[in-house]
Amino acid sequence: MEEKLREDFPIDWEEDNYVSRREFFKFMTLASGGLALGTLGLAAWAEFPRGERQFERALVAQASDVPLGGSLPFAYPRPHDICLLIQDAPGHYIAFSRRCTHLSCPVEYQADKKRIYCPCHNGAFSLDDGHVLQGPPPRPLPRIQLEVVADQIYATGVMRGDA
Ligand code: FES
Repeated sequence: MEEKLREDFPIDWEEDNYVSRREFFKFMTLASGGLALGTLGLAAWAEFPRGERQFERALVAQASDVPLGGSLPFAYPRPHDICLLIQDAPGHYIAFSRRCTHLSCPVEYQADKKRIYCPCHNGAFSLDDGHVLQGPPPRPLPRIQLEVVADQIYATGVMRGDA
């Protein structure tokens, strides 16, 4: 059996090792070069100036539909981007993304504690600007820019607190 194998593959052990080592170092050199190029590319991409993202203005609610001290869910800018519109004081509306920045659980408004709360891991965000008050969320909640015209509330953009 072994002789048949040697007959079919007539490579002696030393030569086999030599070829493998050479192949290994060739692979390592190519992989290192690829990683170095990839790192340079990512560094260049991170430094590349990007313009502000443009958002469409969209009617998201009638002001009279948002209860005082309460909230109303809506979607912006895409249908699956869930948000929360809050009236925390008479005629004062604020809105945030409803997706927690930790693991994307839907957050809720807690009027009694004047905060936005994530029940999944006890996270909380400030009503002022969405900054993290407690828990594991790594970033502030993105704030939705609003424009109120008479009884109509429009969303006009998304402000990321970490930008
Ligand atoms: S998903 Fe919100 S705190 Fe974890």
